[in-house]
Amino acid sequence: MSLRIRQYPDPVLREVARPVSAKDPGLKALAADMLAQMHASEGVGLAAQQIGETRAICVIEVPPDYDLDETGQPLNPGLPMPLILLNPVIQPVEDETGPHDEGCLSFPGLRGRIVRPLAIALAYDDLDGVHHECVVRGFAARVIQHEVDHLNGVLFIDRMSAAKRLAIKGRLARMRRDAAG
Ligand code: NI
Repeated sequence: MSLRIRQYPDPVLREVARPVSAKDPGLKALAADMLAQMHASEGVGLAAQQIGETRAICVIEVPPDYDLDETGQPLNPGLPMPLILLNPVIQPVEDETGPHDEGCLSFPGLRGRIVRPLAIALAYDDLDGVHHECVVRGFAARVIQHEVDHLNGVLFIDRMSAAKRLAIKGRLARMRRDAAG
């Protein structure tokens, strides 16, 4: 099944996702469809709101070569990929933050530098209903933060610097105009 990716300013992107249970009907099929759509769109993450759903589920797949430390060792060896998160909750585990250019499938062509914590504590349920708690570092931690933001109705434009937001004001206005037809 092909899902349509919702783009800014679709109001569903501002909705807060509601908790799900692994037993919810259709959830496994939804996860499979989201993964397929994410791959087709060449993204590394996709959250429910981006396909018009408001259930707390997101899918992530970080390529192995994006998940290495400075010595070339896997940064998050225990983390399954693709990663399907139900009801994810995150928290920074240290004060250190860093910038990185991010994109978003709901904002085609737009990229922006976003400062985020470099490591997070992640709690989530998997598709079998098993609860997991772990620490995630590096690029995977960034992608998870971006997707959990989506589940909370927060978009990466909200986290851009004031200067960057000013710079993209016209572009966002154009997206709103195009959507209004
Ligand atoms: Ni996004």
